Amino acid sequence: MPRKIVAGNWKMHNDLSETETLLKDLKKQVIPEDVTVMVAPSFTNLYKAFESTREHPIQVIAQNMHQSEKGAFTGEISASMLKSVGVKTVIIGHSERRAYFNETDDLLAEKVNAALESEIQVIFCIGEELNDRENGDQYEVIQNQLENGLFHVSEDSWEHIMIAYEPVWAIGTGETASPKQAQEMHQFIREAISKQYGKGVSKEVSILYGGSVKPANAKEIFAKKDVDGGLIGGASLKADAFIAIINAFE
Ligand code: 13P
Repeated sequence: MPRKIVAGNWKMHNDLSETETLLKDLKKQVIPEDVTVMVAPSFTNLYKAFESTREHPIQVIAQNMHQSEKGAFTGEISASMLKSVGVKTVIIGHSERRAYFNETDDLLAEKVNAALESEIQVIFCIGEELNDRENGDQYEVIQNQLENGLFHVSEDSWEHIMIAYEPVWAIGTGETASPKQAQEMHQFIREAISKQYGKGVSKEVSILYGGSVKPANAKEIFAKKDVDGGLIGGASLKADAFIAIINAFE
């Protein structure tokens, strides 16, 4: 069975004191035992966040990393740096990284390799743009993103990989994929993984939905067969809303 996961991607929000306040509020809440909760603060707040959640099941994860082990890459962060502050999971291929920082499938494939080699788990993000969906190309786009960025990994690596399906048109727009649209794409993704790696892999991998998930729609989306949780942006910045989403599984 795939793990149920709710991950908050805090993007470029929250300075150190805001991060500490939000974590303090989250830690007051009881988290269902069968749900893995993750939060992705900015790099500058990772260590403090890790320290603050040491005795708590909330996992602190990173939003990005560089593909090289080390070197003259001003402004970048390596896998071993992440590990040294307690990070065990990284988001790779977020559509904002693809769109604003020109991260290509080839680069993302390298980042995936670098993370796995350092024993860091990967949340690999995929998602089509609005015009892809309007043209009916969404399945082809997703298939290509999987093939070019991820399907080179070994079967064994899948133990350390999660997928986040985030249709770009639904991110930060208030527009959500309908539960039916989410289920259709999640099923497609699971089948694509099954074709490439077999059912043994596909039935275990967690596939998260992301894109304007909020307390009002999380229940319906999480109830879908192939949706194993969510990658949450805006609504993860408010403790009450994030907790409500964490509790939205049936
Ligand atoms: P929103 O929940 O703000 O739409 O963001 C989704 C997202 O990009 C999470 O990675």
